Amino acid sequence: MARLLSVNVGLPRGIPWNGRTVDTAVWKTSVQGLRQVRRLNVDGDRQGDMAGHGGEQRAVLVYQSESYRYWQRELGRNNFSYGQFGENFTVDGLPDHDVCIGDRYRIGSALFEVTQPRVTCYRIGIRMNEPRMAALLVARGRPGFYLRVLEEGQVEAGDEIVQVGNGPEQMTVSEVNALLYLPSHPRSQIERALRIPALSEGWQGSFRALLSQNNDRDATTANAGLDPMSEPPPAWTGFRPLRVVHKIRESISVMSLVLESVDGSRLTAALPGQFVVLRLQVTPDAPAVMRSYSLSSEPGEPYYRISVKREAQGVASAYIDDRVEMGDVLDVSAPRGSFTLRPGDGPIVLLSAGVGATPVIAMLHALAATGSTREVWWLHGARCGNEHVFAQEVRDLLKDLPHSHSHVSYSAPDREDRQGVDFDAAGHLNIEVLRKLDVPRHGNFYLCGPSAFMGDLSAALAAWGVAADAIHTEPFGPGPSSTPGIATSPSRRPHQPAESAGTGPLVSFARSGLSVHWGAGFQSLLELAEACDVPTRWSCRTGVCHICQTGLVAGTVAFRPDPIEPPTSGTTLICCSQPSGDVVLDL
Ligand SMILES: Cc1cc2nc3c(=O)[nH]c(=O)nc-3n(C[C@H](O)[C@H](O)[C@H](O)COP(=O)(O)OP(=O)(O)OC[C@H]3O[C@@H](n4cnc5c(N)ncnc54)[C@H](O)[C@@H]3O)c2cc1C
Ligand code: FES
Repeated sequence: MARLLSVNVGLPRGIPWNGRTVDTAVWKTSVQGLRQVRRLNVDGDRQGDMAGHGGEQRAVLVYQSESYRYWQRELGRNNFSYGQFGENFTVDGLPDHDVCIGDRYRIGSALFEVTQPRVTCYRIGIRMNEPRMAALLVARGRPGFYLRVLEEGQVEAGDEIVQVGNGPEQMTVSEVNALLYLPSHPRSQIERALRIPALSEGWQGSFRALLSQNNDRDATTANAGLDPMSEPPPAWTGFRPLRVVHKIRESISVMSLVLESVDGSRLTAALPGQFVVLRLQVTPDAPAVMRSYSLSSEPGEPYYRISVKREAQGVASAYIDDRVEMGDVLDVSAPRGSFTLRPGDGPIVLLSAGVGATPVIAMLHALAATGSTREVWWLHGARCGNEHVFAQEVRDLLKDLPHSHSHVSYSAPDREDRQGVDFDAAGHLNIEVLRKLDVPRHGNFYLCGPSAFMGDLSAALAAWGVAADAIHTEPFGPGPSSTPGIATSPSRRPHQPAESAGTGPLVSFARSGLSVHWGAGFQSLLELAEACDVPTRWSCRTGVCHICQTGLVAGTVAFRPDPIEPPTSGTTLICCSQPSGDVVLDL
């Protein structure tokens, strides 16, 4: 008979870690006597980061005394106390390889159902004083599991745990954990997991994503369960010389370059919305600068077109405008990026401001080239006619789309700009304009433009009722960071690290326009990025969750520790990789 050995609770508190403060409730203390268990929590307990933990399906975390003994042996430790693994219930029995998702247990007067394995994050590493802990729990098949509270009631240490129901499919916690995180994802097993109604919505979503790619998945494609925004591997690694065959002025400040292969071979078609990275030797003796540019051409054409806005004191854009000539050869990466048209037949709303039109005009080209019958909205904001890019090209493309609508706003029209001919309305493109136009809220929205434009419109679209997963944005710079449990500090521009300059390989953060020498004091590319205030996204920090997956534009890396499942080709996991030579990252 399994037994509840200890009930453990804890509230979120600030823990100092690597010079920062982490908000976490992973420290739990064993409590005596009867405890009420409610739908969301054990009384006296709360989760620090509700994105990763907590909620109805993750109300109670369970860990087993047998795993305590296992880790004491493995880690050579003997100082564990109940709650050591952040669990609410320490139990004798109920091993992860026996307990099945959907199993039901009565403990005290409460009734529980098993919903999912634990999702590990770096905080268990802090608690255990062992940074690899998140990866070890997953790799060794001992994650522990969550319970949903079906009937609230009271529990107490010493209570018997009585199984009152078997989960359908009889899939154990260890099996389900391995199915998502370890390299093998057999379709039949994913289908089994999806037949378990008790499996939490989050895990069901990950398995559905895996299933949708499972038919043609090979070793080079991403694990869509961990990375739903996965993109195909880049067509080539590093940079390839491309010749500038045309230089076209699109507006007073935007210049297009048309690029072709130097050997006459056809360039691989990009997905509409993708971008390339240019490596530009602006100054002969200084390191080359890396800048990203969305492709503005039709994806199926044999050439690539980029369209670059000259920024005040902008290093690369001034170089391209003033010094790049027809016939020059530039170093260009393969197209990459996941800001691409989603398949489907619902409405598409292309929303752009200024030079942000580049990725969305590629989408418009792709739709027009196939004579799409989808409802397509082209909504664009410019300052005035002189700054209005692709005006005629867009009008021509819209003619090929039977269900298209267009609206152009000028925020500061010139006297010669004609309302009703060159533009539709004076003012900024905002949610009021969309409301008045009766833009369909159930469409997919693709936004690109200045960060304030995208931030304001994304928030307004969400408030208007547009689903979060139907709002797609392409920031023309570093993306938003995700640092679970750590308060965001006021954002600084990316900079050289404060520590003395390293002498190792050159690491270029392409989106941030920063190149930094690697130093031996850093454990990972993630640590280097953090030291430079380059925005990053991460969770486990030890190669499990793939949240830190980042485009590896050029160069190679070594892994330490090895990730549980390797990243997609053309990307790396920055939390557990170090540069083997000069590298360029899409960060
Ligand atoms: C995915 C992606 C796609 C992109 N697509 C396009 C595109 O299609 N077209 C396009 O034009 N751009 C695009 N960009 C932006 C592009 O990569 C460059 O950032 C842009 O061209 C500016 O580069 P720059 O070298 O000219 O300017 P930088 O020299 O990098 O300077 C950028 C701006 O910051 C200012 N600045 C520089 N240093 C400082 C400082 N220390 N303090 C305050 N201000 C400072 C400069 O005056 C300038 O206005 C894209 C970016 C990304 C990430
Ligand atoms: S942060 Fe989880 S794999 Fe890197």
